[in-house]
Amino acid sequence: MIKKKFGIIGKPLSHSLSPELHNYWFKKYKIFGIYSLIEVEQNEIEAVIKKIKKNELQGINVTVPYKQAVIPYLDLIINDAKETQSVNTINLNKEGQVVGHNTDVYGLEHGFLNKLNIQDLKKNKVLILGAGGVTSSVIYALLKIGVKRIFISNRTLKKAKDLQKIFNTIEIIEWEIMETEIESMDIIINATSLGLKDGDNFKREFKNTKSNLVYYDIVYNPQETTMIKELKNRGIQTFNGLEMFIYQGQKSFSLWNKINPSLDEELKQILISKLK
Ligand code: ATR
Repeated sequence: MIKKKFGIIGKPLSHSLSPELHNYWFKKYKIFGIYSLIEVEQNEIEAVIKKIKKNELQGINVTVPYKQAVIPYLDLIINDAKETQSVNTINLNKEGQVVGHNTDVYGLEHGFLNKLNIQDLKKNKVLILGAGGVTSSVIYALLKIGVKRIFISNRTLKKAKDLQKIFNTIEIIEWEIMETEIESMDIIINATSLGLKDGDNFKREFKNTKSNLVYYDIVYNPQETTMIKELKNRGIQTFNGLEMFIYQGQKSFSLWNKINPSLDEELKQILISKLK
């Protein structure tokens, strides 16, 4: 039997727990497969995609900073990947086409949004911080639910404006004045990479938030970013991105292996034990 090969491309990849996740499921479902970190430069992306075309690699995930950069090399992008122009999962279909999927939208829906009251959510003002690779997935997941007031704030204004060209109902708040607008927000979603590295922080205090604010951080490693710690101390409800990460992985796994793997407590504990 030939060992199935999977992996994740991106740079840097040292934070990624995807191998832990997928290799756990391979073992659990007795699939003869291996999932590895494939750290590549931009000019090496094409060669990796060719391996999928030749079935030398059965599937890959894509992470920062290549979720858009892979698109020109694919034969097809479908569903949420098409809507968001962001690809995090790739496979070869029966017709021999290399297909780009997006499972981040599913991850956010199941790992976070489904925990909230959908009727309230529709009326909420939601502020997304950041306009990087994952932001289009966040916007699209919110639009699918019917959230009407979506705000974006990003250090580089142009990237927020580029997103507004795709999703023209979103409103932009300039990064410099973002803190003054925070008091009217019901939900804040951090989709920047701030918090990922030790000491990296917003350098803002988010003092004037509503007391029933919900703060969601897509970062999951560390489990508690400085911002989560600060807000939690003030009694604000916070979530990190671990469940989103697990759910996006679940959908990738099921696309590749036609098995919907279970999200058991043992798996969650293994992942948590690997976090900072
Ligand atoms: P990419 O920008 O390549 O898509 P990403 O990790 O998906 O990479 O996105 C990083 C996000 O974090 C961006 O929104 C980035 O803001 P810029 O567009 O201005 O670069 C944001 N970010 C990273 N470091 C930041 C910092 N020190 N202050 C504010 N925003 C930061």
